[in-house]
Amino acid sequence: MSNCDDTNYKGVCAILGFEPEFVKMDFCDTAAVEQLFDSHKIDAVIHFAAFKAVGESVKEPLMYYKNNLGSFLNVLEAAKAHGTNVLFSSSATVYGEPDETPVTEKSPRKSATSPYGNTKQMCEDFLRDSVAAYGMHGIALRYFNPIGAHPSALIGELPRGVPNNLVPFITQTAIGKRECLSIFGNDYPTPDGTCLRDYIDIVDLAKAHVCAVRRMIDGLMDEPYEIFNIGTGRPVSVMELVTAFEKVNGLKLNYRIAPRRAGDVTAVWADPSLAESKLGWKASRTVEETLAAAWAWEKHLAAKAQ
Ligand code: UD1
Repeated sequence: MSNCDDTNYKGVCAILGFEPEFVKMDFCDTAAVEQLFDSHKIDAVIHFAAFKAVGESVKEPLMYYKNNLGSFLNVLEAAKAHGTNVLFSSSATVYGEPDETPVTEKSPRKSATSPYGNTKQMCEDFLRDSVAAYGMHGIALRYFNPIGAHPSALIGELPRGVPNNLVPFITQTAIGKRECLSIFGNDYPTPDGTCLRDYIDIVDLAKAHVCAVRRMIDGLMDEPYEIFNIGTGRPVSVMELVTAFEKVNGLKLNYRIAPRRAGDVTAVWADPSLAESKLGWKASRTVEETLAAAWAWEKHLAAKAQ
């Protein structure tokens, strides 16, 4: 919880109508992780806990390696001891600047361009090797660009400080927290000159986890270690996203074209067909629905702050 408060936990409780057990602990604390596994019967772990800002990882690589790798090693040790299934939050960042789009799970991983990206690749390898050696089962989900919020507006993205990612920057500009959105580059070799990404709705993304956990605990896996792209298969440019946000929410966004951001890839989007055939999962929400939910969440935060 180094980058959040308990807003989202409270939102989860409100949506569920009960309070799921919540243990606040540091996953880099080996003894605490062992104790957690010893005191619960755990069928599967979904490991989300990691730092995720690309630029910050370049400035503080050791902080990223220590946290992202250390916490996952503890999870794997405990999972090994207890025969627990492990689902790892991986990222499209492992594909780097791909030679061909859309990318499939067989597309080559490129050398990581940031310590953050490196931790995603390394954790995938930790899981692959542990599964091979210890008779465990694991799935890595490679998320494309998760955006949006729960339609109830009770859970959503709440970055501390200035957001790095596009959609929270858009919603914070629209609400007046930020003066102007910078669109990083309009001279890319894409139809409108801005970068292409595969924006995946957060609720669709959450559902992919349910499917993946079921696959592991129901013994349906073809291989003990599997990888799935979790995206829509639909490339959307930064400009298209901004225009869609303005249209669906009936407002004008203050934006300007700025220089390219170091480290950005031109275009990456998923071939999600493996997830559809094996997990029975497919993204269903439109970009417009997702952007409406993101805006409802930002307004909910603003109303709460008053
Ligand atoms: C990056 C990582 C991804 C990681 C995600 C979460 C890479 C290649 N991708 O995605 O793995 O999971 O961050 O932090 O390392 N943009 C603007 N203005 C802004 C912000 C963004 O124009 O103020 C543009 C960017 O140039 C990019 C697009 O919007 O083209 C999406 O950016 P962002 O939301 O930061 O995600 P990625 O960089 O694609």
